[in-house]
Amino acid sequence: MPKKPFYITTPIYYPSDRLHIGHAYCTTVADAIARYKRLAGFDVLFLTGSDEHGQKIQRKAAENNTTPQAYVDKIVASFKHLWEKLNISNDDFIRTTEPRHHELVQAVFQKIYDQGDIYKAEYEGWYCTPCETFWMERQLNEGKCPDCGRAVEIVKEESYFFRMSKYQERLLDYIEENPEFIQPTSRRNEMINFIKGGLEDLCVSRTTFDWGIPVPFDTKHVVYVWFDALTNYITAAGYLHDREKFAKYWPADIHLVGKEIVRFHSIIWPVILMALGVDLPKMVYGHGWLVVEGDKMSKSKGNVIDPLALIDEFGPDAIRYFLLREITLGLDGNFSRDALINRINADLANDLGNLLHRSLSMIGRFNGGVIEAPGGTDAIDQELIELARITAAQYEKHMEYQDINAALKDVWTLIGRTNKYIDETGPWALAKDPAKKGRLNTVLFNLAEVLRIVAILISPFTPVTAPKIWRQLGLASDFASVTLGEAQAWGRLPAGTVVAKPEPIFPRIEEQPEEQAETKPVDKAAAVAAADAPQAPGLPEITIDEFAKVDLRVAKVLAAEKVKKTDKLLLLTVDLGTEQRTIISGIAKHYEPEQLVGQNVVMVVNLKPAKIRGIESRGMVLAAVGDDRLQLVTADMPAGSKVR
Ligand code: ME8
Ligand code: MG
Repeated sequence: MPKKPFYITTPIYYPSDRLHIGHAYCTTVADAIARYKRLAGFDVLFLTGSDEHGQKIQRKAAENNTTPQAYVDKIVASFKHLWEKLNISNDDFIRTTEPRHHELVQAVFQKIYDQGDIYKAEYEGWYCTPCETFWMERQLNEGKCPDCGRAVEIVKEESYFFRMSKYQERLLDYIEENPEFIQPTSRRNEMINFIKGGLEDLCVSRTTFDWGIPVPFDTKHVVYVWFDALTNYITAAGYLHDREKFAKYWPADIHLVGKEIVRFHSIIWPVILMALGVDLPKMVYGHGWLVVEGDKMSKSKGNVIDPLALIDEFGPDAIRYFLLREITLGLDGNFSRDALINRINADLANDLGNLLHRSLSMIGRFNGGVIEAPGGTDAIDQELIELARITAAQYEKHMEYQDINAALKDVWTLIGRTNKYIDETGPWALAKDPAKKGRLNTVLFNLAEVLRIVAILISPFTPVTAPKIWRQLGLASDFASVTLGEAQAWGRLPAGTVVAKPEPIFPRIEEQPEEQAETKPVDKAAAVAAADAPQAPGLPEITIDEFAKVDLRVAKVLAAEKVKKTDKLLLLTVDLGTEQRTIISGIAKHYEPEQLVGQNVVMVVNLKPAKIRGIESRGMVLAAVGDDRLQLVTADMPAGSKVR
């Protein structure tokens, strides 16, 4: 059966400057979707590129005393370098200065002109050069560009106009009949209102500069850069020059774009296509903006984040994982270095890294590195297997709706559950008793099997790490040809597989605030002095490893109430980031329940559960205690943060 085609695009970015983390975000999302679709058996065309013409680029080049072509060549090389470093799997990279595109834009312009939908007139109005957008006086916001807030300039010149107005009703009908077309829904409503406000004919040529594609029948005009840029999507799909390719991939499945350019993609672009008699794309998805530590990125603020520097520091998978996990597609998101490091440490080094390391080292120690066939299946195994099944099935649903965030969350829930499964089944104890060899084999097999499934499921997000896990598991099959179906079938791991030596996939990032780092030598001296000093009264010394057995984490109190018929006990419901817990705490004399809700307390997570007044308490919150005072230890950190 031939594979179903799937065509996804990113915006083609302006090579006016180097790309920043916002561009990397959009391209990473598109890449994750493209890789997922390939995994799910689709024949994918994933396109990105560069939008090289227009007044903005011409000016930038002039400021740099160079030609536009030389200017963009250099910057486009940096785009390609970035995508390589980030492991972007685009199938094509289109430059609007390429002959294939130049010819196509001219053919399209000519065709629409010949049918009478482009006509010549005089344009007088405003232009925002950074956005390359025409504005009418009444659309300006206090005289500034309503999109970006920057200064606009007056433009008065002879122009060709595109009869957009003629298509207003057809466009509205299309949007209303195809609820999927503009995503998310909030953007759709905005666009409907915009169109209902009336579509004006659009100015589609300029004469006051020349860095663009000449209008074929009137070469003192260059084609308006957005008209030029939007058609890139059909150039790359083979329109007018590769009939078979075009029939296969067009209409595009998803144009992924930032929210600020949804308007161009869901109004101007469809009308161009309608005029050409070509089908409209199935979906324009407007993603949100990345801000940096809560602030809009800008050169003047000096807070522009360079993705290359981050990749060099943390590796591509960590950056990709952070962007995909931390930001909900469609909503704005925040980039912060602390949040990035937290994610790397908590999710990648701890949750995933530990699961891999613990599992492989136990298979090594207890079974000589061989993944033996499982023995019988107990209820606890069945529960894990069921969760793995549900996770792989739900993953597909989430990904089909571009809900990358939810897909990742589910995979990490499975990882978390599996780590707990190790603690609950205690393979180290099973290994001591030869009569329990069957149990041991079951547990170790299940761990390896979850890891096999996880490796497949995370491959669209972390394409370097996933095959590393595969290799460490000792799996012989070629990871590049693995399918989603293999993740959805439990038990595919061949018994007898010999695992490799575990190697850390994500080192923990130990980053100390500067002032702490500076006082380090002093601290060391103090520590030496303290070691020589007589022991302070208290408990006997413990090693750092003994301390490390205590799993301390920040927990957010979601609800608190008095335990009935007691005057000391409170029943707390807390959120650990990955799960909720119920805890009984003897603090009722010191805190009113309502004081606690919303507080981020520190808690011992791996304390043996206890039944108190018939309620199971799982964990303990920490408090500083005096003679008659008590104060909970709190931390202004997200729920789930480790305390060490
Ligand atoms: O608009 N957060 O190119 P452009 C998230 N050439 N995404 C961001 C972002 C941020 N802070 N900043 C930029 C153009 N982006 C045109 C497109 S398409 C036919 C022509 C991403 O270089 C986001 O996807 O200004 C946005 O739409 C795109 O970069 C704009 O890139
Ligand atoms: Mg822009």
